Amino acid sequence: GGAVPFYGRHQAGITTPAQDHLHFVAFDVITEKRGELVELLQEWTAAAARMTQGKSAGPFGPVGGDPQAPPDDTGEALDLPPSQLTLTIGFGPSLFDERFGLADRRPPALVDLPSFPGDALIPEISGGDICVQACANDPQVAVHAIRNLARIGFGRVSVRYSQLGFGRTSSTSYAQETPRNLFGFKDGTANLKLEDAAMLDEHLWVAPGDGPGWMTGGTYLVVRKIRMHIETWDRAPLAEQEAIFGRDKARGAPLTGRDEFDEPDFTKTGADGKPVIAENSHVRLAHPSRHGGARLLRRGYNYVDGSDGLGRLDAGLFFMAYQRDPRKQFIPIQMELARHDALNEYIKHVSSGVFACPPGVTDAGDFWGRALF
Ligand code: HEM
Repeated sequence: GGAVPFYGRHQAGITTPAQDHLHFVAFDVITEKRGELVELLQEWTAAAARMTQGKSAGPFGPVGGDPQAPPDDTGEALDLPPSQLTLTIGFGPSLFDERFGLADRRPPALVDLPSFPGDALIPEISGGDICVQACANDPQVAVHAIRNLARIGFGRVSVRYSQLGFGRTSSTSYAQETPRNLFGFKDGTANLKLEDAAMLDEHLWVAPGDGPGWMTGGTYLVVRKIRMHIETWDRAPLAEQEAIFGRDKARGAPLTGRDEFDEPDFTKTGADGKPVIAENSHVRLAHPSRHGGARLLRRGYNYVDGSDGLGRLDAGLFFMAYQRDPRKQFIPIQMELARHDALNEYIKHVSSGVFACPPGVTDAGDFWGRALF
């Protein structure tokens, strides 16, 4: 229930042990004035610094201001603890078009993602100029934060889409138990963890010389809303489910091992002469050994948006992955998965976004993305 520090070298909400709930939002900037955009980022940063510490969005709060004016906080988080709220911002490729004079500051790593085989992307829930990931252990606290950022942004940004998520599908610390996704499998076993500082420097944080200086200490976020065909999955035999991932359902152990954190042995063959971990299994295709050592920090959430009118759950994984360079990490991994993964029979990618997440805000005089402007 405590507070996560807002100021730091890196933004919070990335290596922060994954909280239980998500409210993710993508905004379109509707003002054409660069000055108004900068002012908004300053106002947002101040509000975020307050809300993550369990305070109201503005200094007067839901009931302390002028009764003749709308309150500077909407009130639904009054009396609730900070709940480990983190707010993490990212800038999409479209922010670097001609509108704000930022074209020459676009990092080469902030590529438009290619289309992958099988993509069924819905434009209305893809892209966005700016994203904010709110994570908290209380969904009301996460929703309150995004609602107040949208309220503050009125007239300067509009909400393009937002997504609620629950039951974090990744652990980002060895102190956390690995949770399960909606297919019932442990998810996040072989993930980058905050304790592995050297790995984070290699695979997560943008280093000096990687691209424009304003991104040093930042990272790139790829989000994919992946619908999961729950009812079809639920009719698949257990052995097939386990073969698809290459891991067992009970403990999450590789099919060649016993314990969750055993290394998979891709060379091992069974009595039939075939590899124990199938060629088209998810874990084999996504494994760093297949991608020149590339890794991701996965930080996704389950979602259930009710049902779809045909009696099926409208549910899946809101996949989020942070990385140093999507050209070397997400893109080649997803290309391999999109082409060969046995899981594809049970999933569909319906939305997509890529964002440059600047480094952390150092103190009250700093603001989100200051070095960009
Ligand atoms: C591993 C589920 C989509 C990348 C895993 C594991 C599960 C899983 C159960 C094994 C446990 C673990 O190490 O976390 C899913 C489901 C997906 C999905 C249900 C879609 C609904 C993706 C996508 C990517 C991805 C889109 C990236 C493009 C990875 C990676 C690993 C992994 C890198 C670790 C492989 C290793 O080092 O062993 N996933 N995943 N997954 N997944 Fe996914």
